[in-house]
Amino acid sequence: MPPSTGSVPPAPAAPAPGDEAAGRVLLGRYELGALLGRGASAKVYLARDLLTARDVAIKSFPNPRGVGGGEDPRPAPIEREAAILRQLRHRHVVRLREILATRKKVHFVLDLAAGGELFSLLDASGRMTEDLARHYFRQLISAVRYCHSRGVYHRDIKPENLLIDGAGDLKVADFGLGAVADGSLHHTLCGTPAYVAPEILSRKGYHPAKVDIWSCGVVLFVLAAGYLPFNDASLVNMYRKIYAGKFRCPSWFSPELRCLVRRILDPNPATRIDTEEIINHPWFRQDASRGAMAQLMYGHDEEARFKTEFKEDMARDMTAFDILACSPGSDLSGLFGAEPGTERVFVGEPSAAVLGRVEEAGKKEGHLVTREGKKGTGPVYVKAESGGIVAKVCVFKIADAVSLVEVVKGGGAEASRFWKHRLEPAVRPPAAS
Ligand code: ADE
Repeated sequence: MPPSTGSVPPAPAAPAPGDEAAGRVLLGRYELGALLGRGASAKVYLARDLLTARDVAIKSFPNPRGVGGGEDPRPAPIEREAAILRQLRHRHVVRLREILATRKKVHFVLDLAAGGELFSLLDASGRMTEDLARHYFRQLISAVRYCHSRGVYHRDIKPENLLIDGAGDLKVADFGLGAVADGSLHHTLCGTPAYVAPEILSRKGYHPAKVDIWSCGVVLFVLAAGYLPFNDASLVNMYRKIYAGKFRCPSWFSPELRCLVRRILDPNPATRIDTEEIINHPWFRQDASRGAMAQLMYGHDEEARFKTEFKEDMARDMTAFDILACSPGSDLSGLFGAEPGTERVFVGEPSAAVLGRVEEAGKKEGHLVTREGKKGTGPVYVKAESGGIVAKVCVFKIADAVSLVEVVKGGGAEASRFWKHRLEPAVRPPAAS
């Protein structure tokens, strides 16, 4: 049971007055709302996904290759990086859902962390109990360890990037985005020097994993102490203290916490503690059962496995019900509780055949059709000339000869008409003769 965190403030629902972006619809899909925050060159908006009616966060910044963005002839690494980041799925990492680009702007579509910043949960004395600090620090290390294991480093862990979701859990924002943003987000030293590791100051080259661990140590210190470990009115003196690893723990830190903080804020990256040692440290493990710790550290793997097993079990457990249901084109949307605007159809043919017919139907109607995803399972997007989404179609393989087709219909009359006259007949295969 996590220590009590108090209630989580909801994200503002209404547009901020005076922000010219509010009410604008991006690429026919995302309606911008309130401004949630702004950085050196990026702004973060609350937005509504018009296709799914879900709230998201959109981080927008000038397109470095667009208007006024210079003439760099090198291929943009952004697509490759973005593909890696979009694979990151972890309970404590803000998910990057999509990247949209116009000539002027790049927009990251992100999961919304509706509870605001972690630091808003500090008490009147500017800190939290050791138990609560441990609760969030465990979630932070779980996220960092997961991303590092996939070769993704944050490089800028600091309070603004530690958010709380609607359930009161920590979400680390902007994991790896420094690399994707190709310099345009200005992740420079001028931001928050208090969180910067000493080896960055010496500019001799550094290991990004060790740099992230250092910043996590500063965060832990601030949560439990209520002030920064390295601070000085003079920036030069602050850098000196960081470089020397000179700090004092407050009297209320337990001996185990002191020990861990000293091991993390070790100015020598070669002897600094790593994530494996952190998760085995007595302070980190205190009062946690083996099961709870395994769930926190490996839970994402379990979830992925469970989802696969669940699909495999479904396939294995095919019964008379399924045979009935899988007869060509059965509409199971009622049974599977499909949301309004979503249709689910079981088909007994491979995804390529279904998606081929979907593409043909869209083209016949004069719509723009694009297929994403590597495995031939979609999604296929059908868009009107105006750019508005008419339908999104995915096919999930359930068993060798059984697939589930999911159609998310766009809003408006044209999308309904297209579904009825073109898409539904294409998705539901011709009955066997
Ligand atoms: N600020 C930056 N990223 C955010 C997100 N994903 N949700 C809410 N606020 C944010």
